[in-house]
Amino acid sequence: MQSNAKVTDINKQRSACLIIAADEKNKLTASGTALDKALDGVISKLLKRGDLAKTLGSTLLLPQLNSSAERLLLVRAANGAQSQTQFRKLANASAKAIIGFKDATSYLGELTVVEVGDSWSAQQLTLAAGLASYKFTRCLKDAKAYPLTKFTVHAVDNKQLKAYKRGVELGTAQAFGSNVARELGNLPGNICTPDYLVAEARSLAKKHSNLHVTVLDNKKMEALRMGAFLSVAKGSEEAAALIAMEYKGGKSNQKPIVLVGKGITFDSGGISLKPGANMDEMKFDMCGAASVFGVMNALLELQPAINVVGLVAAAENMPSGRASKPGDVVTSMSGQTIEILNTDAEGRLVLCDALTYAAKFKPSVVIDIATLTGACVIALGSHATGLYANKDKLAAELIAAGESSGDRAWQMPLWDAYQSSLDSNFADMQNIGGREAGSVTAACFLSRFTKDYAWAHLDIAGSAWHSGANKGATGRPVPLLMEYILGRK
Ligand code: BES
Ligand code: MN
Ligand code: ZN
Repeated sequence: MQSNAKVTDINKQRSACLIIAADEKNKLTASGTALDKALDGVISKLLKRGDLAKTLGSTLLLPQLNSSAERLLLVRAANGAQSQTQFRKLANASAKAIIGFKDATSYLGELTVVEVGDSWSAQQLTLAAGLASYKFTRCLKDAKAYPLTKFTVHAVDNKQLKAYKRGVELGTAQAFGSNVARELGNLPGNICTPDYLVAEARSLAKKHSNLHVTVLDNKKMEALRMGAFLSVAKGSEEAAALIAMEYKGGKSNQKPIVLVGKGITFDSGGISLKPGANMDEMKFDMCGAASVFGVMNALLELQPAINVVGLVAAAENMPSGRASKPGDVVTSMSGQTIEILNTDAEGRLVLCDALTYAAKFKPSVVIDIATLTGACVIALGSHATGLYANKDKLAAELIAAGESSGDRAWQMPLWDAYQSSLDSNFADMQNIGGREAGSVTAACFLSRFTKDYAWAHLDIAGSAWHSGANKGATGRPVPLLMEYILGRK
């Protein structure tokens, strides 16, 4: 889908659908009023009659009313200034309503929103339209993509246009990156294997000269003594890979942001086998890796003057005669030994070696993204990503990026008091804590491998995919990450 910002005249704008807002008192914004006037008040008549429901985000689609546009979509807004949450609701509701048309023009940017910058509304509208226009079709015989290919955000004047163009650019990048992540996340485990992810990285490098890809295979990981990572992979027939994608947009001496994604292409639990119900959803256990691919793809489109490294720890966690057993002790690349008490706590095992390896890139910050714990889902549900950081400034910046994009994270404690739950009689640490605070103790485990740099951990177990009737990857936290990366000074 292509998006842009433009100063338009609503009475002349050619479009498959115009989108305008009416508040609870049926008041229209400037363009809506101008259209209503040109149509002899037919819109206000319909509104007065009560055809548009009063609840925020309700929509009413009207057929051709004037000669330039084929349809008009009315959306219910709040009175006065919209809160960010209210505006997002409008943006999402209108986006869902237009995906069946080939293009649309939105006048929702004329609504006032509290406490946002000049480009925010355009960014949110573009992100919403881009996300709504995604559909998984790859494994279905007759499914077709949605028709929506062009989305225009109306700007009131040339000054707003400048800001809106920036907003559209960010929103486009966020939606594109999210949809890349969703597609990889949605692919089944028999297609999206570690090898498949390697091929994705290599094909990206082929298309872009400033992306450098290196792949560590089992042999190279053995040479680096990545005993924790390899202990996860060895139960599977699928070869593991640690993929490094280096985007070089900035000066060569500029320290990179390093992203590390958990890429378990299927998590059966291993010998500590998971129960059968909903086990299919463990194909989503590579959504952290998918978000890294999403960000790298979006950066390659935008070509910002920064350096970013995407690391993907790709492996499959399976039970077999060669698989790790509870009680096994392995040595990580850092030299610290780990007693594997539960083979289902495999994410931290692949990540700890990838995080040790990350230091090699002399990072300015390292952010890992992982569907790490069911406990995080219990703690925060699906609305917030769990955020941990060893630097308060980094935590604050990530929280702000989440707030602004609407892809929110909530900070959890990384207190020393939790560390002792990882004590083991047989190794430097065990790979699980007790029953309590499972998301925190998983983060504590990772913190033992990230002491040499500024680090944040995003537990996306609850936010990375939807279960139930709308089962599917969300693409989170790509919007948060893009906002953070592009907004960083
Ligand atoms: N991939 C899972 C975490 C997960 C579970 C994410 C359910 C989303 C939904 C992870 O590898 C895992 O199995 N974690 C265990 C850790 C436990 C053994 C300490 C868990 O959360 O149960
Ligand atoms: Mn697991
Ligand atoms: Zn897992």
